[in-house]
Amino acid sequence: MKILVTGGAGFIGSHVADAFLALGHEVVVIDDLSSGRRENVPSAARFVQLDIRDQAAVERLLAETQFDAISHQAAQTSVAVSTREPVRDAQINVLGTIHLLEAAVKTGVRHVVFASTGGAIYGEVPEPDKATLDTPQRPLSPYACSKLACEAYLRRYAHDYPLKTTVLRYANVYGPRQDPHGEAGVVAIFTQRLMANEPIRVNARKAEGDAGCVRDYVFVGDVVKANVRALTGEITLPVVHCASGIETTTRVLAERIEAALVSSGLEVKATIGVAPRREGDVERSVLEPTFEATGAAPTALEAGLAATVEWFRERANR
Ligand SMILES: NC(=O)c1ccc[n+]([C@@H]2O[C@H](COP(=O)([O-])OP(=O)(O)OC[C@H]3O[C@@H](n4cnc5c(N)ncnc54)[C@H](O)[C@@H]3O)[C@@H](O)[C@H]2O)c1
Repeated sequence: MKILVTGGAGFIGSHVADAFLALGHEVVVIDDLSSGRRENVPSAARFVQLDIRDQAAVERLLAETQFDAISHQAAQTSVAVSTREPVRDAQINVLGTIHLLEAAVKTGVRHVVFASTGGAIYGEVPEPDKATLDTPQRPLSPYACSKLACEAYLRRYAHDYPLKTTVLRYANVYGPRQDPHGEAGVVAIFTQRLMANEPIRVNARKAEGDAGCVRDYVFVGDVVKANVRALTGEITLPVVHCASGIETTTRVLAERIEAALVSSGLEVKATIGVAPRREGDVERSVLEPTFEATGAAPTALEAGLAATVEWFRERANR
């Protein structure tokens, strides 16, 4: 297949591109490098620097290269930025997605896989529940609104055109290549800081000093598997959760990362400070994993963290 991976210079998209290439597909990556890095793009992929807000450029590329499928990972990914700049968020996430869908149906693309968010669109998930695919959506941020809007557009295009769409609602994804410099990606941030013997802080869930927010951490390998299974037809549902189904507080996560670093042979002792609640943070988000997404049990946090720590250590030694 000829596959377009948008956002393929980013964390998840670059792993997805790797996986498609390993299966023998032809891969074209588009990315505007706003947060992604050129070196993340696999050398066997063709790279086109392109902003998905540029409708003409998107249409040109899709017209000149007849793609069979699109794995759409490019996005403005920060909840905080979406709150500060909701218009820009919607321009990239909503209009950018419509540009791709329009070009897709004009050029005979058969399948679009979309990276959505299970971590944000349900809002607060009360104890002891896990959000299921039937849980009502309560987006609390412009980012969550824009992802949900995209899902609606995908449904509309799948209804009106011979286009298959698959929505992958990711929980909190972690793993090698995640950017430790942003404001999200707590696993990458903590790993980097602990390796440098720098203190880390747990932002409060309710009050300073508590164990922090509750999240569902899913390993990037599981998310990649879901992207592949969507395109090979092993995911038959239009929407699935890519999640672990396990709840982890920020404090426990910090302790697990410290343990993974120690197991890897590094002498680290975490200094865990506290910080106030961050405005806009969902307190608790846990998803019921959809078995079809990976066709197997999700990667255990310990195994995923071991692989992540190994990558960060290798990179530090380069
Ligand atoms: N990481 C997570 O925990 C998580 C959770 C839920 C959903 N997602 C979704 O998964 C996808 C990938 O996220 P990620 O964590 O790899 O983030 P990332 O920032 O590493 O990757 C996003 C990529 O999109 C590119 N991009 C941004 N705006 C663009 C534009 N206008 N035109 C072209 N390219 C553009 C960036 O340069 C970057 O390479 C995103 O759609 C994100 O919303 C991620």
